[in-house]
Amino acid sequence: MLEIRDLTTGYGRAQVLWDVTASVADGEIVTLLGPNGAGKTTLVNALSGILRPWSGQVLLNDIDLTATRPHLISQSGIAVVPEGRRIFPDMTVTDNLLIGAYNKRARPHHEGNVERIYEIFPRLSERKRQLAGSMSGGEQQMLAIGRALMAEPSLLLLDEPSLGLAPIIVENIFEVLKQLNQEGLSILLVEQNAVEALNLAGRGYVLEEGRIVGEGSSGELLADERLRKAYLGL
Ligand SMILES: Nc1ncnc2c1ncn2[C@@H]1O[C@H](COP(=O)(O)OP(=O)(O)OP(=O)(O)O)[C@@H](O)[C@H]1O
Ligand SMILES: [Mg+2]
Repeated sequence: MLEIRDLTTGYGRAQVLWDVTASVADGEIVTLLGPNGAGKTTLVNALSGILRPWSGQVLLNDIDLTATRPHLISQSGIAVVPEGRRIFPDMTVTDNLLIGAYNKRARPHHEGNVERIYEIFPRLSERKRQLAGSMSGGEQQMLAIGRALMAEPSLLLLDEPSLGLAPIIVENIFEVLKQLNQEGLSILLVEQNAVEALNLAGRGYVLEEGRIVGEGSSGELLADERLRKAYLGL
């Protein structure tokens, strides 16, 4: 479903990504691991159209996203849960969710979708009118995921959703991702929390200094000596 081919990009003249090739098949959960500054968020930005690729291709269901204008990319089926959540703190939970329904395809179903998200995250449904900025970090992460789901994506990109959250909350959120995946959502999960991410995903890639330096099934990556030392703290 998602094919990234020899993607190169950066900021100004500073190159960050070098010939990144990766894919997510229909129904998969794939994780992208890598240390701070590796270029993970840069890749997410290039996939969501915030950042233009310098060269290479991004295909979603055979549609070339590099030739698609950014505001139309969400309509094509990708939704992003950005690093740091980026919820609107002065708006209510419900209004934050409604912002996620901006694309033409999803907008007509927004009422049903809000209800569905309240079923997925009961914590949010207890806080419908609360200002998003006054919620806990975990609740804000749930809201960021809910907002992305409002766009009715077929592929969800999450940029370090576990950052700063207690293990029990991470477990809860990953459980929801697993459920959504079983219902057909494909997922690309950017994480530094390698063990949890590999336990959830079927396979993964390792990005270092803007290059893919490793890939394999979760089992293979969990068993890799070098990875175990670098990321797994084992
Ligand atoms: N807006 C920007 N302008 C210029 N350089 C940037 C910008 N954003 C990121 N960079 C640089 O690009 C490189 C990769 O950053 P990026 O945020 O993609 O890494 P990351 O893997 O997401 O790291 P982290 O785990 O800390 O989020 C870094 O050297 C960073 O300084
Ligand atoms: Mg990042």
